Amino acid sequence: MDPAADGLDGREIGVYTSTEAHHTVQRSAAVLGIGRANVRLIATDDHQRMDVDALREAMRKDVADDVLPIAVVAAAGTTNTGAIDPLRAVGEIARERGAWFHVDGAYGLPGILDERIEQLFDGLDLADSAIVDPHKWLRAPVGIAATFVRDRSVLHRAFTQEESPYLEGSFGDAAEARSSLDGMGIPYADFGVELSAPARGVVVWSILREVGREGVRAQIRRDNDFARHLAQRARESDSLEVLAEPTLSICCFRYTAREVDDLDALNARLFRRLVQETPFLPSATVVDGKFAIRPCFINARTRVDDVDGLADAVMRIGDELRATAPAPA
Ligand SMILES: Cc1ncc(COP(=O)(O)O)c(C=O)c1O
Repeated sequence: MDPAADGLDGREIGVYTSTEAHHTVQRSAAVLGIGRANVRLIATDDHQRMDVDALREAMRKDVADDVLPIAVVAAAGTTNTGAIDPLRAVGEIARERGAWFHVDGAYGLPGILDERIEQLFDGLDLADSAIVDPHKWLRAPVGIAATFVRDRSVLHRAFTQEESPYLEGSFGDAAEARSSLDGMGIPYADFGVELSAPARGVVVWSILREVGREGVRAQIRRDNDFARHLAQRARESDSLEVLAEPTLSICCFRYTAREVDDLDALNARLFRRLVQETPFLPSATVVDGKFAIRPCFINARTRVDDVDGLADAVMRIGDELRATAPAPA
């Protein structure tokens, strides 16, 4: 038996997330012994958001087949385009089925600070757990993620360990503790997989102390504006095309030319030249089957000139490649 591939022996279980979800969902299912095969990838709508009817139908079918739905994972900012799933509708369906509702806000959760799009996070309050990566949009050093859970006691239930003489035996009566040598304090080791762990929260605390809530909000708004500025530049140009309207600070776009047959091939070549020859380092992805250039604005040093520079560079390289592209058959 291969639990990472096929899940636990015994009752069949299902985990639900969208086709746009980060592949860590499948990896988690594998590591937990749930099995990659038991992650149902739910279709998305025209805006890369989980299709609520498809989710409802997939869960209904599984329940009819005696499969137990254990968790639904919604994205608050997908990796590809920054789309935010309809959290309230998804959360309510999860609740109706008694499934755990997790919100993956690894990249996008800080977007809630931008009051212009805050309503897109409606339903976050239904989450049993939500995750954010301060090492993404909060600009903390890599390796700092934070998980919030509605009920901390479930963590304790999952992670608590048997007492060991070298730990508990080293301390006295907590009520009479006068220093950290006398008592363990809050048993954080019982709330996660790590036993010895660095104080990562201090880094996040110091960033928030330094920049403040309003400072973070200003950065988030500015980054969201960069994505919209780029989309506007693309709309104004005959040779650029927006592939996914920005929700957060990602703008997926591509070079386009009517007479070019294979725009995927042209944009893939363009992208290689872009990262090799210019200071601009977006990533690339696929949106609705089309090769997309995918800048995600989270760098504190980015200026609007950089955004314009990226658009100009894409148009310049695209024009050069187009001049040499084979004519359609
Ligand atoms: C939505 C989402 N979830 C999860 C992850 C994984 O994050 P990490 O690389 O910090 O494990 C990413 C990374 O891009 C992401 O965008």
